[in-house]
Amino acid sequence: MANVNNINVVIEKANDRMKEVKNTIVVMSGKGGVGKSTVAVNLAIALSLEGKKVGLLDVDLHGPDVARMLGGRGQYPTQVGDEVVPPEVNGVKVISMSQFLKEETSPVVWRGPLKTGTILQFIGDIDWGELDYLIIDSPPGTGDEPLTVFQNLKNITGSIVVTTPSVVSQDDVEKAINFLGMMKQKILGLVENMSYFVCPDSNKKHFIFGQGGAKKLAEKYDLNVLAEIPINQKVRENMDDGKPTAYFGDPEIVAPYINLARNIIDQYDK
Ligand SMILES: Nc1ncnc2c1ncn2[C@@H]1O[C@H](COP(=O)(O)OP(=O)(O)O)[C@@H](O)[C@H]1O
Ligand SMILES: [Mg+2]
Repeated sequence: MANVNNINVVIEKANDRMKEVKNTIVVMSGKGGVGKSTVAVNLAIALSLEGKKVGLLDVDLHGPDVARMLGGRGQYPTQVGDEVVPPEVNGVKVISMSQFLKEETSPVVWRGPLKTGTILQFIGDIDWGELDYLIIDSPPGTGDEPLTVFQNLKNITGSIVVTTPSVVSQDDVEKAINFLGMMKQKILGLVENMSYFVCPDSNKKHFIFGQGGAKKLAEKYDLNVLAEIPINQKVRENMDDGKPTAYFGDPEIVAPYINLARNIIDQYDK
């Protein structure tokens, strides 16, 4: 594990590894439970379905959900020579703290410096190979994990901020937007998750968490709304079962994620 004496070496190694990655996108939000991990996993798969080489790094060390959601429960990194190779699950290479825990329910009781070192080693010490996209999923808020990423890694393409239409979510999301400004990071745009619910019986749209929230935020901060993703029970079931929607879902449920991936490719992958 990294210690403070060799942290500069660890930072350099992580940035060396980043040279093999064309685009790095951080998925974040001021809030938990808005669907960051769901968006990160399905975006990663959608990019891979569009023919891109994709890695997914989970820097939510305390709540590492990404490998399970991707369908990689029970799949671990392997040692090949001096390198640690990530498992490839449903087309996406994935590294998450969950792969290193003794038991799925073991808590990670760590403070800042240990978290910083681990996140950087998750990049520098892993043989990601050449990637078109590295998607980084974050914990809620603006703490050690996103700070580590933004303060130490060069060449981050930008961040996607996930929000829901509810007012309480938006206050916290504004904190994330302002944080990204302080970190001098480019915001690729907002993703409004749980935008609406289409009743399967009547086909009527219901705006359970309110309407137009992301658009208002986008206007206030001069940002794009990259996607508006409906609530769908199948999405929740898919993610819980490790059968991620973008890979296993019906075309109409997959569509918003594919559109999001295409939107990003069109704008940032020329
Ligand atoms: N569009 C959606 N429709 C239905 N359920 C969703 C949707 N997006 C996320 N969820 C569910 O909401 C819960 C929280 O999502 P998650 O991605 O873990 O949020 P976060 O990473 O922001 O904490 C999960 O159970 C997930 O399956
Ligand atoms: Mg999450």
